[in-house]
Amino acid sequence: GSVMLLLFFLLLFFFIRVRRPKNFPPGPRPLPILGNLLQLDPVNPLKDLERLKRRYGNVFSLYIGSRPVVVLNGLEAIREALVTRTAEFSGRPNHLMISDITEGKGIIMADFGSSWRDHRRFALTTLRNFGLGKRSMEERILEEVSHICSELERNAGSSMDPQHLFHLAASNIICSLIYGERFEYDNSDFLTLISRLQDLTKIAIGPWAMFYELIPGLRALPLPFKKAFHIYDEIKEHAQKAVTSHKSSRVSGEPRDFIDCYLDQIDMVTNQERSSTFNEVQMVFLLIDLFVAGTDTTSNTLRCAMLHLMTNQHIQERCHREIEDVLEGRSYALFEDRHAMPYVQAMIHESQRMADTVPLSVFHMTSCNTQLQGYQLPQGTMVIPNLSSVLHEEGQWKFPQEFNPDNFLNEDGEFVKPEAFLPFSAGSRVCLGEGLARTELFLILVTLLRRFQFVWPEQEGAPDFGQVFGIAQAQKPYRLGVRLRSSQ
Ligand code: HEM
Repeated sequence: GSVMLLLFFLLLFFFIRVRRPKNFPPGPRPLPILGNLLQLDPVNPLKDLERLKRRYGNVFSLYIGSRPVVVLNGLEAIREALVTRTAEFSGRPNHLMISDITEGKGIIMADFGSSWRDHRRFALTTLRNFGLGKRSMEERILEEVSHICSELERNAGSSMDPQHLFHLAASNIICSLIYGERFEYDNSDFLTLISRLQDLTKIAIGPWAMFYELIPGLRALPLPFKKAFHIYDEIKEHAQKAVTSHKSSRVSGEPRDFIDCYLDQIDMVTNQERSSTFNEVQMVFLLIDLFVAGTDTTSNTLRCAMLHLMTNQHIQERCHREIEDVLEGRSYALFEDRHAMPYVQAMIHESQRMADTVPLSVFHMTSCNTQLQGYQLPQGTMVIPNLSSVLHEEGQWKFPQEFNPDNFLNEDGEFVKPEAFLPFSAGSRVCLGEGLARTELFLILVTLLRRFQFVWPEQEGAPDFGQVFGIAQAQKPYRLGVRLRSSQ
């Protein structure tokens, strides 16, 4: 019996051919059930994607299980899809574990449609115009920066692993914006929430998520991936509690933070008796989205910047001098100051380029039958924009592989941003937190570089610039040598 079964599976593997649709982008031949999974290193598929790109061109296809996926590489193809044909390429794939967990609500995994559009517009205006009450976004960031500084001061003269501190700080900035309060770095509720989010991320990119996505029949079974759903429920409960307490303490029309703004928005549409996509359930998913999207991304970018600054003292010194020249006697920097700091701007952009924080963006999906670079893509095709391929693309950068702020400076030393700078992606799905992230990176790095000198701790041996792949990619852990500057 078992021999027959084995034969059956062998036959299945060799005789059932997965066929690409007509005029679909080329790619390696898939196996039944597994597709091309065996051709991708699950720990870090970026090298394999690079190899496939060299073989099949900038637009190629793969099968993840039985699901066809189109991978876009290089500025030209990515721009055509995400910018020129943005309405056709702005859907989100369903039946990823993370889309099922978030029920397609909120923003990140919400499909192209009115709820996504309304929420995106609302969140952008609220963050931008700062409907968030009396305290501006910058003020909230600067408050957090002062706590980062105190923590670093405690480590002056020695070294520390900055991962935890930067992570808590980035989370706190989101907390301050949406809940109206920050938490002490040792607050146990805060730490629990953060570690739950980390557990969730781990499961979402782990092997169980893969099974969930490959074999639909498993989805309803009580397997370990259920844990991710339970964790998400816990986080939702936490967010729901914050919403409930806001409802009892708020003054309508006088928002203190993002939650208050959303509650005002619900009131407004209710008063106008309009049908709308705004409601408390959506709000909870949106709040969690902001947390998930705004924490690892910012803190990983900061860690990448610090590693390169420690190991390039001349770049760090030049930034320090520019900051001192511009700020002179002023006690703190503002985001406005970036215009007078071309070199610092170049350093920050270069750090973002090298950090390559969200290497494969968030996956997209075609929302109708469409075409790209001469190929036909049916509606519902999953699309992976390989942003990493653009951030290091030959021909787009003076120094594609090395850390060098000159990538963002012209001959006159002015700051220029090449078109291939796409760490936030592009088009109608472009990162919603771009403004916030850029403000954070600028204010944090400028303040820290003014006050401290960061040195590579020699006893640590040679620095390792390797990265750990993930939805948000991260620099490997390292220690940051901290010295207080005497002039401060
Ligand atoms: C989406 C990068 C920080 C909120 C994205 C995407 C990328 C990205 C590549 C996917 C875009 C696409 O689908 O094509 C980054 C980087 C950051 C950063 C590199 C920091 C350096 C933030 C912050 C927030 C945020 C601080 C918090 C407000 C979002 C949201 C989306 C998103 C809500 C989903 C947008 C949508 O689906 O319409 N981000 N992000 N991000 N980001 Fe960020």
